[in-house]
Amino acid sequence: MTMSLLLKVCDYPMMIRLIYASRAINLGPVDVKDILSSSRRNNHQLAVTGALSLSNGIFLQCLEGERSAVNAVYHHILKDKRHNKPEILSLEEITQRQFTGWNMGLIAATAENSALFLKYSSTSEFDPFTMSAPALKEFFAEVLSSARWLS
Ligand SMILES: Cc1cc2nc3c(=O)[nH]c(=O)nc-3n(C[C@H](O)[C@H](O)[C@H](O)COP(=O)(O)O)c2cc1C
Repeated sequence: MTMSLLLKVCDYPMMIRLIYASRAINLGPVDVKDILSSSRRNNHQLAVTGALSLSNGIFLQCLEGERSAVNAVYHHILKDKRHNKPEILSLEEITQRQFTGWNMGLIAATAENSALFLKYSSTSEFDPFTMSAPALKEFFAEVLSSARWLS
């Protein structure tokens, strides 16, 4: 491989999927709505897609898109005072998105979704901090195929 071809390959935009969890704090009644509307607006501009859940006082979010765009969104989110103790639970390069139709989908706190949380959680209460990266990936994949969403 020539040097120019090698450089071309390395320059090619790369997509990643980042999954993190954080603890919700100081949340007012309209905060989740606000988070969703700014997420959808900003993520659309950056071609970032994903989903967010809030359950058991814990945010769990999947962000996917071009690597620098996902990093920019994540750094922005880290500064938000409505949550703390963020932990990256999974980070991988991807060749395709899962959440093609969602700049930020909200995983609603329905009974159906609670059962789904439990399916992938080793504890009786939903606790993504204890979940493995493969379990988290399967959880989000199943959310897309079977859980009910709020828009
Ligand atoms: C758990 C959580 C997830 C968030 N996710 C996103 C997101 O995916 N995209 C986004 O732009 N902002 C997200 N936000 C909101 C940002 O922290 C910030 O409030 C927002 O981007 C401000 O946007 P604005 O300057 O356009 O009003 C999230 C906040 C929290 C607490």
